[in-house]
Amino acid sequence: MKIETVGVVGCGLMGSGISEVAARAGYDVLVREVDERAVEQGRDRISASLERAVEREKITPEERARSEERIRYTTRLEDLADRDLVIEAIVEDLAAKNEVFSTLDRLAPGHTILATNTSSLPVTELASGVGRPDRVMGLHFFNPVPVMKLVELVRTIETSDETYATVLEFARALGKEPVTSPDASGFLVNLLLVPFVLDAIRQVERGTATIAEIDTAMVLGLGHPMGPLTLCDFVGIDTFHRISEIMYEEYREVRYAPPPLLKRMVAMGRYGRKSGKGFYDYAGDEPVPLTL
Ligand code: 3HC
Repeated sequence: MKIETVGVVGCGLMGSGISEVAARAGYDVLVREVDERAVEQGRDRISASLERAVEREKITPEERARSEERIRYTTRLEDLADRDLVIEAIVEDLAAKNEVFSTLDRLAPGHTILATNTSSLPVTELASGVGRPDRVMGLHFFNPVPVMKLVELVRTIETSDETYATVLEFARALGKEPVTSPDASGFLVNLLLVPFVLDAIRQVERGTATIAEIDTAMVLGLGHPMGPLTLCDFVGIDTFHRISEIMYEEYREVRYAPPPLLKRMVAMGRYGRKSGKGFYDYAGDEPVPLTL
């Protein structure tokens, strides 16, 4: 089977990036957001990212225009029922994802593949709730999606070889480098990344070093593009907290447990870059590390 039409559920940070890369690769994309306002925000996000790609000479203005033409928007989930592949990229909430999957499973033709961009929830839980578990997979992208080369392909014990081969071909057509992971929370990247970032937060809690010292050390000492605390702000403090909770629930190992500081930051609405404050304050031209 060959994918020609793609549906994306959610046009936030990840959904907009996924829609953009699919359109840039020539796919016909239909994106669903909950209301017109969210659609507008998603459209603006995609437009700004395509503009950046033109400025950086990654694509021509004509390619930008063609990519934008390939993306249509809707507020009705039902409209995605005619797609060959639907990628869900909504909040990390199993009940909400299950609802999306069961609606699409009811309406879509038998060949439609249902994929999830979940970073940490069990793909099998979603597969078990639909009548086509052989056509369910995890397809986990990294932020910023147009820039990060990796995509994780997650097979459950029910995913068919045909579904896997089709999604693998799709991932390669997007220009991504796929790695395959079994369905265990965190897959490959977050399995290693989450304990690393949580440990950095624990060092801040203990007063081992300041926020800026920890980030500078990891950038200059290891050549990471961002220090762990900057990265946590970038991904979102709330998202990181949620991933950590889900992974702790899965493995019951202390290294995945959210540190108290992370919980308190969520309680205070310090969500990182998107809220203007996390480990850094983003009000000015340069991020300023906060006193905690
Ligand atoms: N389209 C195409 N290319 C783009 C682009 C766009 N919209 N925007 C930027 N780029 C390109 C630039 O041209 C540049 O490419 P070049 O090196 O060939 O010139 C490259 O991307 C870097 O862009 P910038 O120079 O604008 O930005 P920086 O150099 O400051 O890098 C960053 C920004 C890419 C975000 C970098 O800091 C980085 O890699 N950070 C780490 C990000 C990371 O770890 N992401 C994973 C998070 S974990 C995750 O997502 C999983 C989840 O489950 C938690």
